[in-house]
Amino acid sequence: MKNQYLALPGPTPVCPEALQAMAEPMFNHRGPRFAGLFQEVMENCRELFQTQEDLFILTASGTGAMEAAAVNVLKRGDRVLSAVNGAFGQRFADIAASVGAEVEIFPGDWGKALDLDKLEEALSQGTYRAITVIHCETSTAVLNDLQAIARLRDRLQPQALLLVDAISSLGAAKLPVDKWGLDVVVTGSQKVLAAPPGLAMVSFNQRAWDAHKSSDVSRYYWDFTKYKTFMEKGETPYTPAISQFLAIKAASARFVNEGLDNAVKRHQLMAAMTRAASRALGLELLVARDEEAATTVTAIFPPSGMEAAKLRAHLRETHGLIVAGGQGKLAIDIFRIGHLGIADAATVVSYIALLEKGLHELGHNVVPGAGVAAALGCQPQ
Ligand SMILES: Cc1ncc(COP(=O)(O)O)c(C=O)c1O
Repeated sequence: MKNQYLALPGPTPVCPEALQAMAEPMFNHRGPRFAGLFQEVMENCRELFQTQEDLFILTASGTGAMEAAAVNVLKRGDRVLSAVNGAFGQRFADIAASVGAEVEIFPGDWGKALDLDKLEEALSQGTYRAITVIHCETSTAVLNDLQAIARLRDRLQPQALLLVDAISSLGAAKLPVDKWGLDVVVTGSQKVLAAPPGLAMVSFNQRAWDAHKSSDVSRYYWDFTKYKTFMEKGETPYTPAISQFLAIKAASARFVNEGLDNAVKRHQLMAAMTRAASRALGLELLVARDEEAATTVTAIFPPSGMEAAKLRAHLRETHGLIVAGGQGKLAIDIFRIGHLGIADAATVVSYIALLEKGLHELGHNVVPGAGVAAALGCQPQ
C-alpha cells in the first residue's frame, strides 16, 4: 500500500501516543478506572482552554458541540448576531436559527477577517442575546480577531453571550478563554489535538449557566444539567466513546508537555512556511494579509487554467498527498492544506515538495525546489 500524507485541516494524522492508547481493552464507564481517566482528561483540557469554568466532553463531532452550545443557552425568539465570513459561520447561524432564535447575519468577505469597524457599527444597534463567531474559519483559512471581538461585545453588548467555534484553532492560536470572557467555546478532537474524530469539548462559564436556567429549547441528549450532575461523579450521562477518551488523554498530555505557547508558535511557523512556499511557486493565496491567516490551514488558488479538483486528484493518485478542496461558494476554486496537530516543519516541507512536483508534472512553470527553499527560509517568531 502506498504511503498517504494526510494534509487535511482535519481529520489530521493521529499522534502515536493516542493510537497506542486506543488499543486498550474496554472497561466500565461507571467505575473508578473511567473516573480517573475522566479526571486526567479534564485537567489537561482545562489547561488547553485556559479555563477554570465548567468543561464538557461530548461524544460528538464538532457540529454536535455547536448544537449543544446553542440548545443550552438560547431561548426561542432570542436575537442572535451570527458573524459569517465562511461556511462554518453560516453553519453556526443555521444552528441558532434551527432552535428558534431570530438570527441576523453579520456578513464578512470570504478570505478576509471580520471587519471590526463594521462589527462595531452592527453591535451599536439593537440588543442581542448572543453572538456567534468562528475563531478560525477553516473554509477560508482566516483567523478572526477574537480578542477584539470579545472587547467589542464587552463594551457594546455586555448582556450578549459570546459563543465561539474554536474547532480548528484551539491549541494553535492564542485563546485564553477565561481572560477574554468567552462564554461558550467549542472544539473537536480531530483537529489541533491530533486525536481521532469523535469527541468534542465545550467550555461553559457562569454567564452561560445563567442563560441555561431560562433557556426553553427542547433538548435531551445535550442537556448540560445532566452532564454537570454526572461530571461530579467522574462520569458522562450516556456511554462515552471510551477509546476516544483514552486517545484524548494521550493527545492532550502531549500538548500540555509541549506547552501551549510553543504549540502556538509551531503552528504559526507552519502557516508562514506554507504561505511563503505557495507564493514562491507563483500561487495566489485566498487570504492576502498574513496577519489574518489561520495557523492551521492555508487556502490556495491553483495556477490559472488548472482546476483545483484536477490538481488534488493528481496529488492524491501520484504522490499520496491528500489536500482538501474548497467549501460553499469556494468549493471548486481553491484547495486547502492543513498543517496542524503533530505536523512540524519537516511535515510541511514534505507537503510542499510533493506540491511543487505535482504542479510541475501538470505543466505549471515552477523552479524545482523554490517552494521548499522559501519554506525553509522562514524563522520561528
Ligand atoms: C471551524 C469549524 N467548525 C465546525 C466544523 C465541523 O466539525 P465536524 O465536522 O467535526 O462536525 C469544522 C470542521 O471542519 C470546522 O473546521
